[in-house]
Parts: sequence; C-alpha cells; structure tokens
Amino acid sequence: MSDLVLVVDFGAQYAQLIARRVREAHVYSEIVQSTITAEEVRAKAPAAIILSGGPKSVYEVPAPSLDPAIYELGVPILGICYGAQLMALQLGGEVARTGAGEYGRTELTRQGPSALMTEWPEFNTCWMSHGDAIATAPAGFVVTASTPEAPVAVMEDVARRLHAVQFHPEVAHSERGQELLENFLHHVAGIAPTWTNTSIIEDQVALIRAQVGTEKVLCALSGGVDSAVAAALVTKAVGTQLICVFVDTGLMRKNEGEQIEATFTRQFGVELIHVKAQDRFFDALAGVTDPERKRKIIGELFIREFEAVARDLGADGDGPRFLVQGTLYPDVIESGSGHAANIKSHHNVGGLPEDLSFDLIEPLRSLFKDEVRHVGEELGLPAEIVWRQPFPGPGLGVRIVGEVTRERAEILRNADYVVIDEIKKAGLYRELWQSFAVLPAVRTVGVMGDGRTYAYPIIIRAVTSDDAMTADWARLPYDVIESIANRLIREVDGVNRVALDVTSKPPGTIEWE
Ligand code: XMP
Repeated sequence: MSDLVLVVDFGAQYAQLIARRVREAHVYSEIVQSTITAEEVRAKAPAAIILSGGPKSVYEVPAPSLDPAIYELGVPILGICYGAQLMALQLGGEVARTGAGEYGRTELTRQGPSALMTEWPEFNTCWMSHGDAIATAPAGFVVTASTPEAPVAVMEDVARRLHAVQFHPEVAHSERGQELLENFLHHVAGIAPTWTNTSIIEDQVALIRAQVGTEKVLCALSGGVDSAVAAALVTKAVGTQLICVFVDTGLMRKNEGEQIEATFTRQFGVELIHVKAQDRFFDALAGVTDPERKRKIIGELFIREFEAVARDLGADGDGPRFLVQGTLYPDVIESGSGHAANIKSHHNVGGLPEDLSFDLIEPLRSLFKDEVRHVGEELGLPAEIVWRQPFPGPGLGVRIVGEVTRERAEILRNADYVVIDEIKKAGLYRELWQSFAVLPAVRTVGVMGDGRTYAYPIIIRAVTSDDAMTADWARLPYDVIESIANRLIREVDGVNRVALDVTSKPPGTIEWE
C-alpha cells in the first residue's frame, strides 16, 4: 500500500479539498477528526500530517485543538491557516487578534531560503482568509514569508520538520499552492508520488481477491458511474464470479439499459440479470402525486425486485455471499458527522436492507468522484458511462411533477435525450453538473400548423455545482436554448411549450421533487 498522509479536519469543507490536492500529487490521503490522539496517529503510521484550516479563531471557546504530543512524533507536519495558528500557539509562539484580517488575493513576500518555496520568486499571489495572525513564531522556527497583515505568513522548523502557512495553498487562486504542497510531500516528507489510478486498481484487485476467494458476488447496476466502476473493478478481480442485476424501473434515461447490457455482457462477459419491472413500477405509482410517497414506493419496490433475484439465485444454497456497493469517500466522511436536515429522502441502490445478510464489498470507499471516473476510464468503461452526469435513484419519477404514468415517462425520456444531445453538441456536457428535462403534469394550449394543440410543457434545468450542496443555474447560450426548444417541440410528441428554470440552490433544489 502507498504512504499515508493524514489531513486533520478543523472545519467543514477545508479538509476535503486538501485531501484531494494531496491525491493529485499522487500521494494517498485520509481525513481524520481533530480529536485524534498521538497514540492513534502512531498506529496509523502516516508519512506526513497536514492540519487544515477552519472557521474558528484559536481563542474561541470551545475551539478545536490538537494533542500536543503529535508534534513530538517526528512526523513532518504542515499547518494551514487555522492549523498554522494552532501550531504556533501550542509550540509557544504568539497569535494576535489584529482585527485587520486579509480576505482574498494577497501579495506574499519571500524572506530567505525555504524548504516549501524552493524556486519561488520574491513576490507571489496567495489566497488569504483570516482574522487572527501569527505575531511571533515559536522558538526554533524561521519566518520565510510575510504579507501586509501577516508578519508570519510562512514559518518553518526544518530540524523538527514542522512547517506552517497562513494562506490556503489548496485553493486554485494561490498561484503556486500546489507546488508548495508537493514540495512538502515529496521533498520535506520524502514521499514518492506513487498513488496512481493503476496502483489504486492493483491494490483493490488484490483486496477483493483476498476477501472473496472463490465465492460468488452480486452487484446492482443503476446506470450510474459509481456502481458501474465498482462492478468493473470486481470483474477485473474475480471475473465471472460476479453476477450483475439491472432493474429496469421504466424511469431510466434513454438507452440506459442497452448501454449497461452492451458494456457488461458483451465487453466484460459478466452475467447480467435484466429485470424488466416497468409494469410493476407504473402500477405502484398510479394515482400517487406526493413526492415523498413516490420516492418511498420506488425505493421499496426496487428492494423487493432485488431481493427476489437474490433469493432465486440462492435457492439451491450456493447463492452469492457478497454484495458490491459503490460507496464513495464523501459518503464515508459525511456519515461520520451526522448533520443536515432531511430535505428529501434519498433512494440509492446502495440502500438495501441489512437483513439481506450479504458481506459488503466497497472498492470505492476511499475515492472521490473524480478519482472514480479516472479509475473507470482506466478499466475500459465507455466514456458515456464514466462521464455521465448524476442521476437520482428514483430516476425520471422525481422529474415528473404529479402522477407518474407510462405516457409521461416516455415523453420525458425523449425530451431528456434531446436536452442532453444538444448540450453535448454544444460541448457543455462535462462543464455542467447536471442538465435535464422536467415535465410538470399540466397541459397548455398552443398552435401548430393550422391546429390547436393541448400538450405538456418541458422545463430545461441546467446547473453548475461542485458538490450538489449548492448550485447555480447555468447561463446557457441563447442559441443552445433555442435549438433545444425547437427540437423538443418538433421531435417529442406530446410537448408544445418549453421553459427555462433560472432558480439556484438554495432556494430551489436541483431536482424538482
Ligand atoms: P437536490 O435535488 O436535493 O439534489 O438538489 C442534489 C443531488 O442529488 C441527486 N438526487 C438524488 N440522488 N437519490 C439519489 O441517488 C435520490 O433520491 C436523489 N434525489 C436527488 C440530484 O440529482 C442532485 O445531483
């Protein structure tokens, strides 16, 4: 396994970005809580530690702290922003509540040689976000850079391998931030850049083989990226011991089933059980308009369909013992913190009941979404699957506002295809977080040729986002909107009007239900 870097989390969001930047430097990183003890750190045997920034002042009560014995372990440490101030304070330096903070682009001035900024010019742009500032570095530290409001913007104790920066090297606006992180990782800590997609795949393949032996493995494919990559990894590890299940709910995107079938059956030679459950889903959804009820019905029925397959396979006693899940690292981190109100009950293929009594295989548990995509590419999955925009578990069911019927699902599927096709032609598909069609179950009057029409409107929904927690409506070029609208009305039977959703999140959510 690769060398490990621990990123100590002093506040939401900051640590994740640092962990990703470390991985971009081809070094494996994990996020840990700030309550971690020196003993626990020693047990993990990290090659380096990074202390993240955080929203608090070191003087606030309570404010997160760090077990001071961690500084004595001899492991190279880089403190960033809050982490830098905490290091200064805990090691005998001084942090001043200057009141004159710095926010945004700030000029950084070098002051002599530095292990972190070896080839840097005298002046650089860095990204600051701080109120307090280190006023005096602890004994043993040398100040190697400053800014107008931060006399100790970078300080280093080379002998003890302790380094600290007031600015945020992890954000793109810090000109040479990534270079600073790489200097710390590769030169100060001496970690070789060996964490690559190939090494991730090799490690996982070995782990899966060790876990599974000669047993059979089951995997539910949803059409999404995560389950597809997880399944491809398991196939590489144990080949035809994997059995995939694809439940067609009737609420999938156009060609989704065919694509899955082509990839997994023909390309990978995996046994795929294609459950055509459309009728059962439409029957169960008849007359239901409440969004939460729709989600529950779809989620529960999905589980029932899956259970039926699992039971059939196990009828003769040698059914699959393992179940693959596409759990990602952000799910693992978030489930540790137990926050957030339940805005919508999410239906995931992963949400299978515990009494199915499978042992879980989660080969993507330590990966971020972009890493999963790159692993998928390396495994030979087609770009249409790997680069797919996210799609909700309940599928088109939560994009039909009102009762879900076969007719409406078909109209929406065709409309969704047109939206995606035009967005792809305009070269915008990867730039957008999501772009899709929504069908509200109301009809309006129009005129086409010489006749009156009475048909559904389609709403174009396109958003940009980093993590789906917040989103901005995408400023699509007028000519793209126009070609989508023309095609929707010309090609999709049952549509006579097109509107554009210009709501951000918040106050809206990305999906309409
Ligand atoms: P909202 O609509 O809450 O969606 O802004 C945020 C992101 O989550 C996706 N989404 C879901 N994904 N099951 C899922 O697996 C669900 O029930 C579900 N609901 C929303 C949505 O597409 C967006 O990317």
